Amino acid sequence: MILIKNAKIIEKDTLIKKEILLDEKIVKIADKIDGDYETIDVNGMLVMPGGNDVHVHFREPGFENKETIKTGTMAAAKGGFTAVMPMPNLNPYPDCYENLKVELDIIERDAIVDCYPYGTVTVGEKDKLPSKVEEIHRYVKAITDDGVGVNNLELLEAQMLLAKKYNLVIASHAETPRGNYGPDGEYTAVRNEIELAKKTGCKYHFCHMSTAESFEAIRKAHKEGFTNITCEVSPHHLVLNEEMINNNPNFKMNPPLRSEKNRQATVEALLDGTVCMVASDHAPHTEEEKSREYNSCPNGILGLETMIPVIYTEFVKKGIIGYDRFLDILVNNPAKVFGLPERYLKEGYVSDLIALDIDNPHTYTKDEIVSKGKNSPFIGKTYYGFNKLTIKNGKIIYNNLGGKHE
Ligand code: DOR
Ligand code: ZN
Repeated sequence: MILIKNAKIIEKDTLIKKEILLDEKIVKIADKIDGDYETIDVNGMLVMPGGNDVHVHFREPGFENKETIKTGTMAAAKGGFTAVMPMPNLNPYPDCYENLKVELDIIERDAIVDCYPYGTVTVGEKDKLPSKVEEIHRYVKAITDDGVGVNNLELLEAQMLLAKKYNLVIASHAETPRGNYGPDGEYTAVRNEIELAKKTGCKYHFCHMSTAESFEAIRKAHKEGFTNITCEVSPHHLVLNEEMINNNPNFKMNPPLRSEKNRQATVEALLDGTVCMVASDHAPHTEEEKSREYNSCPNGILGLETMIPVIYTEFVKKGIIGYDRFLDILVNNPAKVFGLPERYLKEGYVSDLIALDIDNPHTYTKDEIVSKGKNSPFIGKTYYGFNKLTIKNGKIIYNNLGGKHE
């Protein structure tokens, strides 16, 4: 058993000092716990359940030079996530059981945090034929054609009905037509797809929303009572805007950084509840690919290692959101929407815990990056709340309390 001393935990939206005794499950939480246990002093850090990141790209099988299940889950552990959902733009695409099995076997072998892979909506994300939902529904929580989006609405509706039947979420990379990265490409898709989600009643989740019009459409659907429709935003769309791009490949992703007005609308949607979770869209590429000039380098930036400190520093520390909301958008809401196991810092729940250094600033450097990719707009930026310790099922899988990276 491990005894965590000097933890601050979230209770009723405030931080209180506690000690936590754990093995695979949380055994006891109290003001003081005596006994002869292996002890970790977290020195006043914020201890909370590991985060759930429902949008990551781990590139395996198919693109192991960018990331693997092993390096991706190590980056997750470092960043403070004990469950992740890898996207299906892979080779082979997980569009039938045989293809999905390739990924499932690697996860079984190499993952150090829980991985719930997405299947695709269409065969090879080609927008022509339906993926084999009948074969894969037992093994996935959700399906998506992330990276492109489904434009074939007849096909989408048919897959929505199957998703409803099997209680799967469909996650939408909203983009109509494919390749239109402009704001209208996003909100046109959102408007079309909302109508289908209302009609079919399936659980429909919009990925990385970034325009005022998209949020307005989702807000309206919520007002009409369609709680089956949800959305996520990524940290970069909350805190960066298009004026910061300056042809720098580390600021190139899809959807792209938007206008300041759209960034503010993104924050507003997070604050009024239109958005119920943040997700990183962790999208590693090789250093060679990201060192090409802006117009010919691929879309995508890292996210797992910086999402928690960015949200903590820019929103919690500044008093814009409270601790309970922080927990909801990182842990509870992703679990609820996607049907992942619940994680609470309460006796009897699984010991998947992290410790955030909320009192000391840390400047994020390229050298410390665990992911195979090095493409992050947050390199050189200083934040509070970096994760220092990750415990998964009662075992330490990441420990930086010793100040190795200080
Ligand atoms: O920036 C992005 N990168 N956006 C996407 O939609 C796909 C992702 C990737 O796979 O690299
Ligand atoms: Zn993505």
